[in-house]
Amino acid sequence: MSGRFEAHGDVGILWIDNPPVNAISQAVRVAILDGLKQAEADSAIKVLVIACAGRTFMAGADITEFSGPPRLPSLPEVIDALDAFSKPVVAAIHGTAFGGGFEVALACDYRVALANAQVGLPEVKLGILPGAGGTQRLPRLVGIEPALQAMISGDPIPAPAAQEMGAIDKLVVGDLTEAAVAFAREKIGSPRRRVRDITLSPNSLPAGFFDTARQRTAKEKRNLFSPQRIIDAVEAAITLPFDQGIQREQDLFFECAKSSQAKALQHVFFAERQVSKIPGLPADVKPRSIKSVAIIGAGTMGGGIAMNFANAGIPVTLLEVNQEGLDRGLGVIRKNYEATAAKGRLTSEQVETRMGLIKPTLSYDALADADLIIEAVFETLEIKKKVFETLDRVAKKGAILASNTSYLSIDTIAGYTSRPEDVLGMHFFSPANVMKLLEIVRGARTAPDVLATALDVAKRIKKVGVVAGNCHGFIGNRMLEGYGREGSLLILEGATPQQVDQALVKFGMPMGVLQMFDLAGLDIGYKSRKDREPGTFDVKSGAVADKLVEMGRLGQKTKAGFYDYESGQRTPIPSDVVAKVIEETAAQYGIKRREISEQEILERCFLAMVNIGCEVLREGIAYRASDIDIVYLYGYGFPAHRGGPMFWAEHELGLPKALERIREYARQHGPRWWTPSPLLERLVAEGKGFAQAV
Ligand code: 3HC
Ligand code: NAI
Repeated sequence: MSGRFEAHGDVGILWIDNPPVNAISQAVRVAILDGLKQAEADSAIKVLVIACAGRTFMAGADITEFSGPPRLPSLPEVIDALDAFSKPVVAAIHGTAFGGGFEVALACDYRVALANAQVGLPEVKLGILPGAGGTQRLPRLVGIEPALQAMISGDPIPAPAAQEMGAIDKLVVGDLTEAAVAFAREKIGSPRRRVRDITLSPNSLPAGFFDTARQRTAKEKRNLFSPQRIIDAVEAAITLPFDQGIQREQDLFFECAKSSQAKALQHVFFAERQVSKIPGLPADVKPRSIKSVAIIGAGTMGGGIAMNFANAGIPVTLLEVNQEGLDRGLGVIRKNYEATAAKGRLTSEQVETRMGLIKPTLSYDALADADLIIEAVFETLEIKKKVFETLDRVAKKGAILASNTSYLSIDTIAGYTSRPEDVLGMHFFSPANVMKLLEIVRGARTAPDVLATALDVAKRIKKVGVVAGNCHGFIGNRMLEGYGREGSLLILEGATPQQVDQALVKFGMPMGVLQMFDLAGLDIGYKSRKDREPGTFDVKSGAVADKLVEMGRLGQKTKAGFYDYESGQRTPIPSDVVAKVIEETAAQYGIKRREISEQEILERCFLAMVNIGCEVLREGIAYRASDIDIVYLYGYGFPAHRGGPMFWAEHELGLPKALERIREYARQHGPRWWTPSPLLERLVAEGKGFAQAV
């Protein structure tokens, strides 16, 4: 039963009950229609309350239904029935009234909400727009500008702010049902007060309002389809009569719903929720209690990692080799907090509270009580060995010992301790206080409760934790190697750095691959190439970067790398010096430079990455292709509207085409880096997708 009707004297309550979030499934839609019929037929009922059981009001349309054929009755039909209902209706809102849930509430006469509830129209995040009257009703209720803003951002609106906007009539503390029934009783005998009957005045808008909104949104929501359609729909609210506006909304909704962006963004919604489900991890495994944390190394990563814990109110001890290192690290942390405060996003008191949670130390004795210790020292095995041997001596029994290593083996590191079951990788992404990804690397002997604790910690510090197996570079950096290699080879073969980067930015990446190298510092790759076994990487691909480093061009930090940079600026300026180095290097390797198309740039960079992704999946380093997508979305800024590299390969390109192109590049460039993954070959031969990979 997804709903039931209850009579309380002259007030009817239509209860919706569809755990966990009361998504408006077909059964819920039927239940609302049934409830309305009963309430209409019962002459003793003078007013109706719509309320939800469980933890929330209706959190929106049932997204799982979007991929199948339409199931009747549709939500707009339900909303029409609400409009046609003859008695006043009150929505009693707790938890989250999102999307279709908020649209149901907007079709009621009144909205009563718990003070800690939230409302919102987050459809834009799923690549669609409010398709059950939201684009026509919210502007009528709160005004065009705030309504448009709410729909384009898709962000939740806390109930008190919603009340201020005019979207909530009464805020309630205590028993919501009781308060909603009492409120409803006051409305007995009142005529209906339908939002659709409110008249919008076009004169209230500044001239050119919608054109300005289109231009601004094109910049802020670069490449996104549905925000522009939202503006079209809201414009219709002002230019067309209500019913025609609703028809326009419907047409635009279906245009969005069938777009590849909607499919990709809905994939991301479910991928994000899948990621914490770990095959083989018993559901009843209890995470260890983490009340205090220690971090070794206060450099770029250690400082950012410490901020995450301080932000969550968890005390952190920060250890360095000398006072100078500590002072520098704490100075950077303070500067970061103060910059946030300057933007008005933290008060000076909050800055001090967070700084107060970070305790600097030079002594391992201060780590004896830490529940979780994260190492973030230089990426050198000998140094990490010393650190973990020391930790094994000083850390208390049951403390979790984590490494933030980018590439090194977690099993080797765990082997430096007498407690490998307590060791795992917690790989943050730079800037660690900003990037949402936490790659959690499971060693061969990591205990299940240690893994569960890391997942729990990720949630507490507002990160998305993705579990990876142990291999060189884990999921993200292992795949990045293919991406970086091809970007670097393409410039030798004839593309300019800006051509490569512009193609990637046009695709939706936040920056191109060569810009990314400049940002990270070319010396990092230089050092790692010097340390690597010959034959494990393509020497040609690093040749230009090596020369640039030897010329002192280390990237943005020296105002010169693959590009030139003006002081304090991040805008890449093409460099003649670099163009010459590229040409000389190509000649040195006997490479004949040629015209390179945008399509080749995208295929080479992304298919190299995807082919490694298939290996990552085949070897069980990632549990699911969708986990790999999440790594790329939250760790590397891959555009969400493309769903992630694996989704892109499967759904935009198609796996058979992906395989065909990989084979073609193997013919052109040899099998060393382009041999298709056996998993990809098998899936294509069997006509399967990544969901059937394992
Ligand atoms: N449809 C189907 N399933 C949904 C759902 C929805 N709208 N919203 C959540 N779920 C599922 C999740 O997939 C998850 O399933 P799982 O347990 O099997 O993984 C379960 O409900 C719990 O969800 P969360 O883990 O996200 O729970 P939280 O408590 O963290 O968050 C929430 C709750 C804030 C409601 C969050 O789930 C959310 O934001 N949901 C989506 C809201 C949304 O986008 N609504 C608009 C839908 S589109 C629409 O309404 C179109 C209309 O205009 C026509
Ligand atoms: P960094 O050079 O900025 O900082 C390292 C810090 O560790 C320095 O402050 C140094 O003084 C300190 N240190 C060195 N030996 C120490 C010891 N024995 N005890 C205590 N402190 C010691 O380096 P960064 O970039 O922060 O990297 C740290 C780790 O994080 C490396 O393993 C790196 O691979 C990894 N990492 C780096 C990322 C990045 O983008 N910089 C991203 C993800 C992981």
